[in-house]
Amino acid sequence: MAMRNQKRPVLQMKMSSLESFLQQEFGPGARLTEAAEMGAESQGMKDFGYGKPVSISFELGGEPRQVVLSTMRGDRYGHQYYWDRAAILMFQFDSGGRMEKHVRPLALGYVDEQNNMIPVVDPKEFFIIHERIQGYDYFRDLERIRKNGLEEEDLERTREFARWLARVHSEKNDDPDLYLRRIRNLIGASECIFGLVDSYPHPYEFFSPQRFQAMEKRLIDWRWKLRGFTHRLAAVHGDFHPWNVLIQPDGDFRVLDRSRGEWGEPADDMSTMSCNYLLYSLCIKSAMHGDFERLYRTLWDTYLDITGDREMLKVAAPFYVFRGLVIASPQWYPSHSPEVRKSLFSFMENVLSDEQFDYVRINRYLNG
Ligand SMILES: Nc1ncnc2c1ncn2[C@@H]1O[C@H](COP(=O)(O)OP(=O)(O)OP(=O)(O)O)[C@@H](O)[C@H]1O
Ligand SMILES: [Mg+2]
Repeated sequence: MAMRNQKRPVLQMKMSSLESFLQQEFGPGARLTEAAEMGAESQGMKDFGYGKPVSISFELGGEPRQVVLSTMRGDRYGHQYYWDRAAILMFQFDSGGRMEKHVRPLALGYVDEQNNMIPVVDPKEFFIIHERIQGYDYFRDLERIRKNGLEEEDLERTREFARWLARVHSEKNDDPDLYLRRIRNLIGASECIFGLVDSYPHPYEFFSPQRFQAMEKRLIDWRWKLRGFTHRLAAVHGDFHPWNVLIQPDGDFRVLDRSRGEWGEPADDMSTMSCNYLLYSLCIKSAMHGDFERLYRTLWDTYLDITGDREMLKVAAPFYVFRGLVIASPQWYPSHSPEVRKSLFSFMENVLSDEQFDYVRINRYLNG
């Protein structure tokens, strides 16, 4: 059971224009053989909607090719307009190919007012095409671990995540303005903290308006604290969560959906994956414990061993708040128990009160 709530697509793209797009993009010999929404049974040549990745098979010079076409759903997190979404797809098209293990971007296009798919005049909606890779989403491993327990290869996979992140984050960039922009967006952007806060029901039964306000005020202090860390700007993934990691048949992994700019704060990626271990642990009992604690410790210990970056612990708190607001959200995760939500909110408040994130004793942050 996936915990994330998926919205249904609403608009339609025309199948008949897909082949002509492929011919313009990959060569006049391209022949479409199949296209279907991913995760759905094969739907042959049915037209498809926005927001769900579409798996496309075609032939080129006698060779079968498999690619994935993605559009973005519009949502309330600053993606209401097609040009909000276009900017994100353009960023992915530009930067995805420059990250180790990221799926290769192959083409960028848009849908026009007549639902034709074309390379740019009269745009209505943008889309991006990536290479298609084999494998399953990493959250399936977390579901299996929850049911059947941890295996040695699960720990090894988490160590591999840490090694990969350490390599990615080792690329630094001397551009203080970009770091400040990233922190400003973390707190103020529609798809980050303030946008998420505004998306909660108001008033919200598990976190009063007074507590939200106190949290926001505290975050302003963190914004000023983080001004002193602009030297930390590094290459990041920006959305390293278990639904954006694909486990390959050979056990290796690849990532999807690089987000919010190439440069950022490495704590973003560490907090994103590690708070999902916390979430799965809380769904079993109200503490970080057992198998998910081992995964969580393995991620942090391995990463800190390799990078020696203990300074990260001084800046991680607001990134945990961002990811905490996502995984506690009734919109994204409608089926959590009240206990899970309460623990997550206590976690967010308590990490912000601590000068430095005490990752080893994370349980002391979980109670109100
Ligand atoms: N290039 C690809 N190769 C193989 N599978 C893919 C590829 N792109 C997407 N998928 C599959 O489709 C699922 C959803 O894709 P994706 O992460 O792009 O969309 P999303 O989850 O709706 O967007 P977001 O992460 O922004 O919420 C992935 O978890 C993966 O299983
Ligand atoms: Mg995704």
